[in-house]
Amino acid sequence: MHPLFDLSGRVALVSGAAQGMGKAMSIAFAEAGADLMICDLNEGGLQATAAHIQSLGRRVIPVTCDITHIEQIRAMFARLDQEFGRIDILGNVAGPSKLAMPEDLDLKDMEYVIHGLLIARFCACQEAGRRMLAVGKGSIINICSVGGVTALGRGNFAYSVGMGGVAQMTRELSTEWSGRGVRVNAILPAQVMNPGLEERIQADPNLESMFLRGIPIGRLGRPDDIKGLALLLASDASEWITGAIIPMDGGNLAQNAGGTSGPRKV
Ligand SMILES: NC(=O)c1ccc[n+]([C@@H]2O[C@H](COP(=O)([O-])OP(=O)(O)OC[C@H]3O[C@@H](n4cnc5c(N)ncnc54)[C@H](O)[C@@H]3O)[C@@H](O)[C@H]2O)c1
Repeated sequence: MHPLFDLSGRVALVSGAAQGMGKAMSIAFAEAGADLMICDLNEGGLQATAAHIQSLGRRVIPVTCDITHIEQIRAMFARLDQEFGRIDILGNVAGPSKLAMPEDLDLKDMEYVIHGLLIARFCACQEAGRRMLAVGKGSIINICSVGGVTALGRGNFAYSVGMGGVAQMTRELSTEWSGRGVRVNAILPAQVMNPGLEERIQADPNLESMFLRGIPIGRLGRPDDIKGLALLLASDASEWITGAIIPMDGGNLAQNAGGTSGPRKV
């Protein structure tokens, strides 16, 4: 491994680590030498990720936590202080969504999504940021979405507006904190396969081809696609990269909605 990507001696906290991109990100950090605190609502999945990380020889503390609850986030950081006494990397991966057309959306659902994506995620950034600022070094990675910078439609209103806030929160925190050593970046995935998406694709056979029309690379994302970019942003390899809102989208954002991608090998 190139030494710029080495995370030995560092501690990462990753949410949504029981499956999908949170799991892939956690394993990438462990493979690069980091110890981890991982959290999720799904205890079984969390234990499986923890076992994988342990098998790599890294220390891991799994915490069952609902990241939409402020008091649970704060309790998790208090435990992090006891167990590790430091945090070098924060991966904000889990986040709520509610599908509904804007004209039908219940304001309580809107509040829940905005609270989970913005207030609760900000709380995690604030807890990590305070600790990182105290030592003058750290990297925060917010998983956002292509829906945070463009409109998705299809009832994604609450999620998309919340993710727009995540992108702006990333820019603001980077501007406030990077001069004191804390970098803050965001990753914008397009459609990455997960059990929820798989169900929706099975229920609507046209959905996958519709998504693929907007993905010039010619396949949907896989959770492991996040590993390289997450490791880059977490490590010293990205020492001068901050406030970046980086697509991980198979070319989706580069293509105009009316555009057509070229011939594909897949
Ligand atoms: N998959 C995509 O197409 C896609 C695209 C853009 C952005 N995203 C965002 O990336 C993140 C991860 O996506 P994924 O596809 O890996 O998801 P996933 O559904 O595979 O996994 C999400 C994980 O988060 C956990 N989780 C959900 N709510 C939680 C809560 N309140 N507290 C703690 N844990 C919770 C779940 O138990 C699950 O283990 C989400 O924020 C999602 O909005 C996903």
